[in-house]
Amino acid sequence: MNDYTTRPVQVGDAEAIRSIYNIEVLESTVTFDMVERSLDDQISWITDHSGSYPAIVAVNTTGTVVGFASLTAYRPRPAYATTVENSVYVHREHRSKGIAVTLMQELLTAAAEHGFHSVIARIVGDHDASIQLHASCGFQQIGREVEVGRKFGKWLDVVVMQKML
Ligand SMILES: CC(C)(COP(=O)(O)OP(=O)(O)OC[C@H]1O[C@@H](n2cnc3c(N)ncnc32)[C@H](O)[C@@H]1OP(=O)(O)O)[C@@H](O)C(=O)NCCC(=O)NCCS
Repeated sequence: MNDYTTRPVQVGDAEAIRSIYNIEVLESTVTFDMVERSLDDQISWITDHSGSYPAIVAVNTTGTVVGFASLTAYRPRPAYATTVENSVYVHREHRSKGIAVTLMQELLTAAAEHGFHSVIARIVGDHDASIQLHASCGFQQIGREVEVGRKFGKWLDVVVMQKML
């Protein structure tokens, strides 16, 4: 039995989510953000992810948020409206317990219920854990953008994966 459950994001989750996210901003290339999210940024993000583009959190038995996953618009031009981009983050101390897979399954169900047709994941090129996670959730690699990013003095590829709903 899992020792965590999932639910839609709430404004009260802001501090926990930004703490999970900001460590990756500062220490890794899994996000191309360079500046930590403020609490206000995170609250705006939650508001933006409470309607058509949902976010869900995984919460452990003590009520602590241990991971989150979200959908975001893929591109601003209207003909792209049926495609979404996904994101998933798990707290460093709670990895390898199946939390990301559970969040992804819930997110993909929500994406289908919200009427989206396809989900795109954009993953930094050397990130085998995320590439394998997405493959195990039915995503297929459809492309690779070469040296499109630069962080910590290194060029970064982006692997593009897609799942049709
Ligand atoms: C990638 C990430 C979300 C995985 O979270 P997790 O809860 O540890 O993953 P799970 O336990 O659900 O594992 C699911 C699958 O992902 C893959 N995976 C997870 N961690 C892995 C690792 N260190 N190496 C290789 N594959 C890994 C495996 O296929 C695994 O399935 P398996 O256990 O049957 O082999 C987590 O490492 C993370 O939050 N990283 C930082 C944020 C990030 O990179 N997000 C993705 C941005 S594109």
